[in-house]
Amino acid sequence: MNNSTITATTKLCAIIGNPIEHSLSPLIHNAAFEQMKLNYVFLAFKVEQLKEAVVGMRALNLKGVSVTIPHKIDVMDYLDDIEEVARKIGAVNTILNQEGRLLGYNTDCSGAILALEEKIELKDKKTILLGAGGAARAIAFGLKEKGADLTILNRTVKKAEMLASEINCQYGGLELLESLQPDILINTTSLGMYPKMDDTPVKKEFLKDMLVFDIVYNPLKTRLIKEAEQNGCMTIIGLEMFVNQAALQFELWTGKKAPKDLMRKVVVEKLS
Ligand SMILES: NC(=O)c1ccc[n+]([C@@H]2O[C@H](COP(=O)([O-])OP(=O)(O)OC[C@H]3O[C@@H](n4cnc5c(N)ncnc54)[C@H](OP(=O)(O)O)[C@@H]3O)[C@@H](O)[C@H]2O)c1
Repeated sequence: MNNSTITATTKLCAIIGNPIEHSLSPLIHNAAFEQMKLNYVFLAFKVEQLKEAVVGMRALNLKGVSVTIPHKIDVMDYLDDIEEVARKIGAVNTILNQEGRLLGYNTDCSGAILALEEKIELKDKKTILLGAGGAARAIAFGLKEKGADLTILNRTVKKAEMLASEINCQYGGLELLESLQPDILINTTSLGMYPKMDDTPVKKEFLKDMLVFDIVYNPLKTRLIKEAEQNGCMTIIGLEMFVNQAALQFELWTGKKAPKDLMRKVVVEKLS
């Protein structure tokens, strides 16, 4: 939507987080609203005072909010209801304003699981999740629900242990990786992310006969993904999860099917 088409009935959606300057959410959602000719606009707000931001969302009647670091957990205290998956995960990344009631969802989980299920059946697959931060948490719950045989490995083993105890799965330190032979390897650590693009969590020699999913989406192809491709592995890039989770948000806020190809295209153009 361009400025001249904003009217007094335009619905407002937003992302709240801190920092927020590099978020791609305004780009992806505004492109989708425009393509679908919806009278919506999306803005980004750097939020330090979360409670006040949610009060503001209610007072100004925002239709939807995307929630990012560091607010995904604390925001749950200020909502009217939280759907079951988000409650189990213990984090909300999406708020829908349904006639004044603020409902919390987690589209990171479904976004990642959808990306995986397009390529592979998850049940009983030996799956290693690298990392035990916020994104790992969402994905781990989704994997467990799908019946994957899950092991969580993290630099700080205590965090892997805590998450694994909630999920009821195996855990360990990153050094265990090379003694395991997974069907699926998922990187949820920030290793390899812009600007430290030479970093990778896994030695190239280890990447054999497995599906490799790196949720880092900037750069579009991380070193891990490039090396997995060179070794003939199937791969999924983080962009797929990013687009899926944004598409699910779009669908919650508008009730319309999201234009996923367009959403993917605008992010690829931006990051290429
Ligand atoms: N594609 C998508 O839609 C999507 C969605 C969400 C996040 N992401 C990306 O996923 C990444 C993680 O996000 P998050 O929200 O989960 O972050 P987070 O909560 O801060 O977790 C970061 C994780 O990375 C690990 N880590 C960081 N630096 C490391 C290093 N030098 N060596 C080994 N491990 C290291 C941390 O280990 P410790 O516990 O030991 O600190 C932790 O497990 C980010 O790059 C983010 O952009 C992508």
